[in-house]
Amino acid sequence: THKVREIRTILGGSFEVSDLSLLPAMPEVEETGPTFEDNATLKAVAASLLFDGWVIADDSGLEVDALHGAPGIYSARYAGPACDDAANNAKLLRDLEPVADAARTARYRCAMVYLRWPEDPSPVIAQAAWEGRIGRVARGTGGFGYDPLFLVGASARTAAEFAPADKNLQSHRGQALRGLVAALASGAR
Ligand code: IMP
Repeated sequence: THKVREIRTILGGSFEVSDLSLLPAMPEVEETGPTFEDNATLKAVAASLLFDGWVIADDSGLEVDALHGAPGIYSARYAGPACDDAANNAKLLRDLEPVADAARTARYRCAMVYLRWPEDPSPVIAQAAWEGRIGRVARGTGGFGYDPLFLVGASARTAAEFAPADKNLQSHRGQALRGLVAALASGAR
């Protein structure tokens, strides 16, 4: 729902966006793939089986260098199968406790997959990253997930301290979605 809100805002008024995860028939898609791109494709196919129209799916996560890329594709369930943002953030702070500030580099990644039909042999895929560092205290009330710990770029501001429009201008999701729209607009379909 957070993601859909961001996607709706980034796309603006010329698109009607429906959140297919709210369909009662939408299964909980098991993210069994090894990459963001694979998992976004699994979600897009599941949605496309239920919906006659264009479908986009996002798979995203946080990659922390000192943790060799963790939590990565497991970002949503880093602290366990039924955890929440607070538990994930607490675990991240614990795991990075001994890591010096300069080594706390990280990035959000997003893969966005567009399908016309479930069996679309020519998906459009866009990927993007948003660089930053992991702070030592949670700050800010915007965004979701790891945003209160994610210091944007080399700044001292967390993603949760950004106004929604400013986050969308820079974020992995904003960049990937604009890349997807550009690829579609270039008419390579
Ligand atoms: P997904 O729903 O399987 O793609 O998992 C995405 C997870 O990555 C979320 O639950 C968050 O933990 C994290 N994540 C992805 N994008 C963001 C973001 O923009 N802000 C904060 N956390 C994010």
